[in-house]
Amino acid sequence: MTLPLQMTAIEISTPGGPEVLRPATRAVPVPGQGEILIEIAYAGVNRPDALQRAGAYKAPPGASDLPGLECAGRVAALGPGVSGWAVGDAVCALLPGGGYAEYATCPAAHALPVPEGMDLKSAACLPETCFTVWSNIVMRGGLKAGEKFLVHGGSSGIGTTAIQIARALGARVFATAGSAEKCAACTALGATAINYREADFVDVLRAEGGADLILDMVGGSYIARNIKALADDGRMVFIAFLEGPKAEINFAQVMLRRLTITGATLRPQSDAAKAEIARQLRERVWPMIAAGKLRPIIDSTYPLTEAAAAHARMETSAHIGKIVLDLGRG
Ligand SMILES: NC(=O)c1ccc[n+]([C@@H]2O[C@H](COP(=O)([O-])OP(=O)(O)OC[C@H]3O[C@@H](n4cnc5c(N)ncnc54)[C@H](OP(=O)(O)O)[C@@H]3O)[C@@H](O)[C@H]2O)c1
Repeated sequence: MTLPLQMTAIEISTPGGPEVLRPATRAVPVPGQGEILIEIAYAGVNRPDALQRAGAYKAPPGASDLPGLECAGRVAALGPGVSGWAVGDAVCALLPGGGYAEYATCPAAHALPVPEGMDLKSAACLPETCFTVWSNIVMRGGLKAGEKFLVHGGSSGIGTTAIQIARALGARVFATAGSAEKCAACTALGATAINYREADFVDVLRAEGGADLILDMVGGSYIARNIKALADDGRMVFIAFLEGPKAEINFAQVMLRRLTITGATLRPQSDAAKAEIARQLRERVWPMIAAGKLRPIIDSTYPLTEAAAAHARMETSAHIGKIVLDLGRG
């Protein structure tokens, strides 16, 4: 494969609204020790990309300043010390950044094979949500078969993945969402949907004996309500605070009902930690995909050069599932 020296990428020209995303010409990155270079066919769009664009979520040291945390495509080159991948392999990968571009590098251990029978567009939607959901609901949250699991933002990219993985693990799944259409999408994936504009998730979960695990991206007024909705020994994992990170809560409940409150962001974690998540995904989640229990829900697709429109769509919150950028190589 002959590699070009330059590529088209989408830059954050200055912190701001979707319009600050601008096409630019950049050097094709060179894979370092243990890294692969990917010729990107599709890149997933995630809410953290919008936060980064707005100046609220910095790229970690050493990561590309370009947005984009996941992609699918073909291996275009191997850095020194890489084994297990060959040039031309179909691959999807968690990226430290740089996915809104024709080429990106990542540690080889953060790449996974495109699941058999899956197209590259769907595969591009897997890494960010699968790494986030698996590490938070299983590795951190300890979700087990038979438990009651509540996910907020059930129709989001994260939510639609969380519902399916939790169901495949044998959990009973509850999901909140903000419209009848979004609730229908959650129901179709096997969740008991709660339209938070019409019903109180605390009442619904309490009537069922409480949630064993809550995955929360809302925070704010949900924090105290989550505590009420948890069963004794319940766990709550925060992955975002869309409504804000502050709340007044009664910590006596944490003690008296033996609750666990935790949370994580994926991006700043070590390469070794991400490699361990990838290993578990390959072992536990890729078989769920092969068995037809997990598939990305795709809302819409935009050409790379229309990344600004993709962000504008995400920020309407009208979307259900994932938004994807198409590099025209599918
Ligand atoms: N910790 C991590 O490592 C990590 C990794 C990836 C993503 N995340 C976070 O996880 C969340 C979901 O990511 P995503 O890419 O799946 O995003 P997304 O598809 O845009 O989902 C966000 C969802 O949150 C719901 N929501 C509830 N309250 C909201 C509010 N006050 N403002 C905006 N939306 C609100 C919206 O649905 P309704 O209409 O139903 O309210 C929307 O569907 C994001 O907050 C993201 O930053 C965290």
